[in-house]
Amino acid sequence: MQSEGTMLKNKKIVVVGGSSGIGYAVAQKALNAGAQVVIASRTPEKLDAAAKRFGACVQTEMVDAADDQSVTDFYHRVGQFDHLAITIKPQLIASATAVALCVVGARRFAT
Ligand SMILES: NC(=O)c1ccc[n+]([C@@H]2O[C@H](COP(=O)([O-])OP(=O)(O)OC[C@H]3O[C@@H](n4cnc5c(N)ncnc54)[C@H](OP(=O)(O)O)[C@@H]3O)[C@@H](O)[C@H]2O)c1
Repeated sequence: MQSEGTMLKNKKIVVVGGSSGIGYAVAQKALNAGAQVVIASRTPEKLDAAAKRFGACVQTEMVDAADDQSVTDFYHRVGQFDHLAITIKPQLIASATAVALCVVGARRFAT
């Protein structure tokens, strides 16, 4: 069986909500394990501050999970990935379409 570190090494991990709290911790664990990490949320200042705190190379992307177009554009910018973590409050995802887009995006773009 692969160890956690081996499983995530060189994998592309996308964390929606990765600029603070649980998402930040998930992103940090993934970075420690050698993953290529994308953190995403609404506020550029929070994304930049988080990226600085990591002290490692992370891609930052703006997305509003409550906005269908924003979610669609986000998945197109990010491209293919291996794992997706969404750690924002479920009730903040206002639109059922946005939830569906998360699932469709994950299916379409996951390697
Ligand atoms: N932390 C805990 O110990 C804990 C324990 C149990 C349950 N929970 C639950 O877990 C969830 C996350 O908690 P947390 O502590 O990680 O929260 P947090 O520190 O407030 O982080 C939330 C993250 O989600 C982003 N975000 C919020 N709304 C968004 C949206 N519409 N689109 C994209 N990104 C969005 C935030 O950035 P922006 O605001 O810049 O978008 C931030 O990066 C909550 O539902 C919380 O109740 C947390």
